[in-house]
Amino acid sequence: MDNYYENLLKSVEYIKSKIKKEPVLGIVLGSGLGMLADNIEDRIEIDYHDIPNYPVSTIPGHAGKLIFGYLSGKYVACMAGRFHYYEGYEMEKIHIGVRTFKLLGAEGVIITNAAGGINTSFSEGTIMLINDHIGFLAPSALRGPNIDEFGDRFFDMSKVYDKDYLDKARMVAKRIGLDVKEGTYMFFKGPNFETPAEIRAARILGADAAGMSTVPEVVACSHCNLKVLGMSVITNMAAGILDKKLNHEEVMETANKIRAVFVEYVKEIVREL
Ligand code: HPA
Repeated sequence: MDNYYENLLKSVEYIKSKIKKEPVLGIVLGSGLGMLADNIEDRIEIDYHDIPNYPVSTIPGHAGKLIFGYLSGKYVACMAGRFHYYEGYEMEKIHIGVRTFKLLGAEGVIITNAAGGINTSFSEGTIMLINDHIGFLAPSALRGPNIDEFGDRFFDMSKVYDKDYLDKARMVAKRIGLDVKEGTYMFFKGPNFETPAEIRAARILGADAAGMSTVPEVVACSHCNLKVLGMSVITNMAAGILDKKLNHEEVMETANKIRAVFVEYVKEIVREL
């Protein structure tokens, strides 16, 4: 934590020296959704390895680079490969990407993930817009000294998922004829998938989807006033709903099946934001 802010400024200075202009929007890509980045034009890729003070992603399906360029005519920054709580990173590493977006000048972020469906009206391949989350199973991403440059020690979380972004995402879904659901995303620490009892408990609490990412990043966005659009791809029904075991291969398989639709949807949303 010592010199955290100064170190991050050095990371950002390095990134700025490589890119042509400020991104207006950041995008965080979830498991199996990296293909969105292939649609970015006039691209500049920066490996996490090459960025001073940056952590490195360890998961298959998470590339581990920042990609800059034009998507639907907007200059965006895309994180292909994110940092998860279950990998053992300190909290301030997990949300380093969205803070990087903030320091680069972005006004908002689209955060995507693969998630397990808890709401039984969902099925594999459902796209869910996140309208709220439950994140109290892990410490807050902002536990520890406050970085005043980003925001106040105590801050509001009552309107985390930006209403205007949600309205636009709904409008685009309608326009392209995509049946998109909405719901509450619940953070689980991972790396194990949940037990059926944990999923039943989550449903009672009001959760619609279960996942192992997003919440720490969204909390950091809220702290530094970055607008958020959160999107889950339901890659599997959560534990205990169907009579089968969960595994990462299925998560990737469903993400692969839905990704063309997902990419088109996100591209249209980016055009509108
Ligand atoms: N649980 C938690 N995280 C997930 C799941 C799940 O069922 N599917 C994809 N990510």
